[in-house]
Amino acid sequence: MLNYVVDRTSFLEPFVVDVDVDAATMPKATNHLVRRASAMRGHYADAAALDELIRNGDPLHYEVFETPVPEEYGHLMYCISKLQPGRVGNEFFMTKGHYHTVLETAETYLGLQGTGFMVMKTPDGTFNAQPISRGKMVYVPPYWAHRSVNTGDEPLVSWCVYPGEAGHNYGDIEDEGFPKRVLLENGQIVMR
Ligand code: F6R
Ligand code: ZN
Repeated sequence: MLNYVVDRTSFLEPFVVDVDVDAATMPKATNHLVRRASAMRGHYADAAALDELIRNGDPLHYEVFETPVPEEYGHLMYCISKLQPGRVGNEFFMTKGHYHTVLETAETYLGLQGTGFMVMKTPDGTFNAQPISRGKMVYVPPYWAHRSVNTGDEPLVSWCVYPGEAGHNYGDIEDEGFPKRVLLENGQIVMR
C-alpha cells in the first residue's frame, strides 16, 4: 500500500465544476473578477482615448471566472478568461498582464472563442507572441509575463490552468511594459 502524508498540500475530496463553454461562464464561480476600462489606466499608449472611453460609460474590459482551490504547491488553479473586443485608439483591448509571483510556474491557455494573441516577455526583455483562437492552446512557460490581446470582433475566451502556488505579480510588468503593442494600422494587425 502506498503511504502518504498530507503536509504542505491540502487534501481535498474530488469535485466537479459546471463550465458553460458557449456562454463562457462558470455558473457557480465563487470568484468573478471584473475589470472595466477604468482599471486599465497606464496600460494603453493613448491615455486620452482611454479617458474618453471611461467618460462614455466605462465599458466592461474583461472578466475572470474561477472556483478557487488552495493556492498551494500541488493544486491546479483553473479559470475562464473573457476579454471583450474593442480598441483604445488604435490599440486592441488587452488584459493587464502579469508575471507569476513564483516565476518558475507555467500556464496553459486553451482558446474557446474569438481570436487574438498571447503576448509574452521574459525579465531580460525577450518578446514572444502566439496566436490564440478556438482549438489552439498556448503554453506560457515559466518566467514569461503574459497578456491576452483581442484582435477580433467577438469576446476572446480562454480556459487557463496554472499551479496553485503561482500567484500574480502585476507591479513588475507594469513598470517594465511589454516590448510591443498590438495595433490596427491601415486595416492590418501589427505589433510594434
Ligand atoms: C492567471 C492568468 C489569467 C489572467 C486573466 C486576466 O494566472 O493568467 O487567468 O489572470 O486572463 O488577466 P490579468 O490577470 O493580467 O488581469
Ligand atoms: Zn497567469
